[in-house]
Amino acid sequence: MTRTTFALAALALVAALPVAHADGSAEAGASKAGVCIACHGPNGNSSNPEWPNLAGQNAAYIATQLKQFRAGERGVTPNAMVMTAQAAALSDEDIADLGAYFATQTPSGLEADPSYWKAGETLYRGGDKTRSIPACMACHGPVGRGNPAAGYPAVRAQHSVYTVEQLNAYANATRYDDVAGAAHDTKNAHMMETIAKQLTAEDIRNVASYIQGMR
Ligand code: HEC
Ligand code: HEC
Repeated sequence: MTRTTFALAALALVAALPVAHADGSAEAGASKAGVCIACHGPNGNSSNPEWPNLAGQNAAYIATQLKQFRAGERGVTPNAMVMTAQAAALSDEDIADLGAYFATQTPSGLEADPSYWKAGETLYRGGDKTRSIPACMACHGPVGRGNPAAGYPAVRAQHSVYTVEQLNAYANATRYDDVAGAAHDTKNAHMMETIAKQLTAEDIRNVASYIQGMR
């Protein structure tokens, strides 16, 4: 075998292996996702704007959030309680598989509100130095795909209603229930709380509209 054909054969072998997403199996996740789809919609594209889209969210972030729900640490709003009940019986393997499945789905179907997205784009892409607001893009990426290795969520094509709720929850430090506990004290939660506190209601409305239209 020449060096080239050997390399090609090795590549083909790698390509034939099941794709690992944070050690989960997307195939196994697909068969476990039936119950989730009742709220999060077919392929993780939900129709109720308070139920977040999961399609295209990165597996690492999904896993972290599911573990925080399971531990009862992600808030006590009615919506958070709904999700806490859903996560209670999931094993670590279920969580990894579900994350892998939703990460491979494609977000679809939402548009930005034409009145607000321009101002939202300015904030998303450039931040506002005069008010110490960093560009959202620096962490969530130019088209909102996030950064899986760092645990930064994808935000693109998310319902603006859900995004507004989460940004307000970070600003009020209510997204995580255990104000002195583990989930609340993560570096990532602090990062986003600090940023959200700087945002006005208009900023939040505008940037949420822009994010909703992102692909
Ligand atoms: C009865 C409706 C319902 C079902 C069923 C449901 N969820 Fe949820 N889920 C929600 C709601 C509502 C929220 C938002 C909670 C909040 O606002 O704090 C949510 C939030 C989430 C989040 C956080 C997303 C983010 O962007 O932070 C993840 C991950 C998630 N759900 C995964 C799942 C998985 C996996 C299943 C199936 C095992 C599932 N959900 C089943 C209603 C549901
Ligand atoms: C320094 C990095 C960084 C910057 C800059 C940043 N974020 Fe975040 N963002 C994060 C991290 C990390 C999380 C996850 C925090 C956690 O674990 O709860 C997050 C979470 C979020 C969420 C919750 C997503 C979900 O599915 O629940 C939204 C919405 C969000 N950010 C919007 C924004 C907006 C809008 C801006 C700009 C004004 C911004 N972020 C700037 C790092 C950042």
